Amino acid sequence: MFQGIRFKPRRLIDVSARSLKTSLFGRQNPMPLLIGPTGLNGALWPEGDLALARAAANAGIPFVLSTASNLSIEELASRCNGELWFQLYVVHRELASQMVQRALNSGYKTLVLTVDVGVNGYRERDLRNQFKMPMSYTPKVMLDGCLHPRWSFDLVRPGMPQLANFVSADASNLEVQAALMSRQMDASFDWHALRWLRDKWAHTLLVKGLLNADDAAQRILEGADGVILSNHGGRQLDGAISPMEVLAQTVSKAKAPVLIDSGFRRGADIVKALALGASSVLLGRATLYGLAARGEAGASEVLSLLKADIDRTLAQIGCPDVQHLSPDYLDLPGAAAAVADRSSPTSSQWTGVHA
Ligand SMILES: Cc1cc2nc3c(=O)[nH]c(=O)nc-3n(C[C@H](O)[C@H](O)[C@H](O)COP(=O)(O)O)c2cc1C
Repeated sequence: MFQGIRFKPRRLIDVSARSLKTSLFGRQNPMPLLIGPTGLNGALWPEGDLALARAAANAGIPFVLSTASNLSIEELASRCNGELWFQLYVVHRELASQMVQRALNSGYKTLVLTVDVGVNGYRERDLRNQFKMPMSYTPKVMLDGCLHPRWSFDLVRPGMPQLANFVSADASNLEVQAALMSRQMDASFDWHALRWLRDKWAHTLLVKGLLNADDAAQRILEGADGVILSNHGGRQLDGAISPMEVLAQTVSKAKAPVLIDSGFRRGADIVKALALGASSVLLGRATLYGLAARGEAGASEVLSLLKADIDRTLAQIGCPDVQHLSPDYLDLPGAAAAVADRSSPTSSQWTGVHA
């Protein structure tokens, strides 16, 4: 999808000074990026959640802690003073209530409800590599560990990473215990339940994992402050569309900030999403690759590379400010062009100040 969209640069524009500053839910970010929620970051680097959160804080952008994190909601908040968001998977309503309350108590100001994992995707690569929790020591894992002795030692020294938010949950309720044991999501969680969650969370609430513009508009009407278009990085539903394909249409219908993720590895692709009206882009594997290679320093370097790449792209297309991006800078494939023409509020239009 990214390759099908090309730039139509403007020339003879003063691009000697460029701005990547982005307003998101009443906060000024120095660039239109966030580090998105990924579980088991501690399997890539010791205290991987903290390393990513600190890389985000140093770059001045939000970090989204996953429900499936290896550092608990409370511990991360006590050790990182950057902008922290919490992502919620609903395994059981009671457990969700507890986690929401814990996030509130710990000072998180944005809740991201992920809705594209009602049931787990059939991840053949994980099955082939016998990747599961707790991790199993297959001959391949052992060999890999031996080939990277320092990395393995650092990783296992503090003990195998745990799902910290579940370990510290109150599982006195039998149903909660059963839900924890089964590791299945609550597939009955529907829009009524979204309203239930809205009542529990007084701050910014986003719904992540949408791929349909009408769906997005409806979730906003039901109380969400914004949406995150995502196909979960292509890891959930085989054959799902790219969120880029519904971005312009969603921006025109949702009347609230539309964020996006899945597949972003280059500044130019981030600029394309912003030009189609995305308020910001979440990174998944891009920063995980940096984390796995060099921890916080690696994740920070990925952020610097992407920032430089966005900046360079702005100069190349003759746009001095991310707030000025619009579909006019793009050459879009047929149907997408018609939608973008009709809609096209710029990325700055919906900054989503939550009451
Ligand atoms: C290893 C891994 C773990 C993930 N864990 C979560 C998670 O716990 N919660 C969630 O909402 N999304 C999770 N995601 C999805 C990401 O938030 C995001 O949607 C996706 O990675 C974006 O695609 P990208 O990796 O190509 O940037 C995970 C993705 C990866 C790669």
